[in-house]
Amino acid sequence: MPLLALGIEGTAHTVGVGIVDETCRVLANVYDMVKPEKGGIHPREAANHHAEAVVPLIRKAADLAAIDLGDLDVVAFSQGPGLGPCLRTVATAARALALTLHRPIIGVNHCVAHLEIGRGVTAAKDPVLLYVSGGNTQVIAFARGRYRVFGETLDIGIGNMLDKFARECGLPFPGGPILEKFARDGNRLLTLPYSVKGMDVAFSGMLTAALALRKQGASMEDLAFSIQEVAFAMLTEVTERAMAHLDNGEVLLGGGVARNKRLQEMVGRMALDRGAAMFVPPGDLCIDNGAMIAWTGLQMYRGGVRMAVADTIVNQRYRTDEVAVTWR
Ligand code: ATP
Ligand code: FE2
Repeated sequence: MPLLALGIEGTAHTVGVGIVDETCRVLANVYDMVKPEKGGIHPREAANHHAEAVVPLIRKAADLAAIDLGDLDVVAFSQGPGLGPCLRTVATAARALALTLHRPIIGVNHCVAHLEIGRGVTAAKDPVLLYVSGGNTQVIAFARGRYRVFGETLDIGIGNMLDKFARECGLPFPGGPILEKFARDGNRLLTLPYSVKGMDVAFSGMLTAALALRKQGASMEDLAFSIQEVAFAMLTEVTERAMAHLDNGEVLLGGGVARNKRLQEMVGRMALDRGAAMFVPPGDLCIDNGAMIAWTGLQMYRGGVRMAVADTIVNQRYRTDEVAVTWR
């Protein structure tokens, strides 16, 4: 019997449960997402949502995978980074499940999990990850025993920028996919700040400038197009520089914004020009999901990681490079 892990994700909007075996076959990957009526996400409301949703999701995942919970070998959960109340809710669920089943529990770094699932389900072996989601924007790669951050946002995540812009323009959450549709009909490149500082990027200036242009009457199509062109060019630039520095011929996309076809096209073009390869996991493994937590937890377990319940305290600011990568 291959080892089986169940993973619970719950760092932000999404609570997800995945079941994965040791060959990275995804047996189940179910999730539920809080959609704020208006404004941004409220951490405690999201945590209440996760608390209600998590047990039914665990049952649903086990049904889909056609397993008994007793068949599991490892219980993993997202230990951070993320919103405190959400993290504590899923950690509590994971502890209860692990203790009931008498199975080991493993806390997983969410950002590392985005990279590991990409390595698990694509042919990428040692890629530079461009991790672009709502709250996170990082360029990550493996170097000297750890996943290290080579560049990141200095203010808000790219997805938050897209969602906030959309919200201010009266569009529903999540704004990223809606803007992608508008952008297809845009044809004028409006001037927006291109903020790359060394290996880091910044997006709040672009948000302010785009909203000002909207007030002056610029069309949604041209604005969405211009935001995508400028923001994605910034991301492509820093990703390429990390690849050049590391002499690395693989780029992997992860995070919800990685579903964007224009971003894929731009990074893909950059990779082609360098003779490198780009990898994009299926959409439901790009967004926040339980399968990536299960898979990473299983790898950690096989790499000898063991945690006592006392080690499972959540870490809202869990840095990618805090994790000693013992499993590769
Ligand atoms: P975290 O930062 O904790 O990973 P998250 O919950 O925002 O948080 P994801 O589920 O990975 O993470 O991503 C959601 C984000 O992805 C939202 O900001 C959404 O607008 C964006 N997104 C989803 N699809 C697209 C798309 N096609 N184009 C652009 N952005 C998209
Ligand atoms: Fe994420």
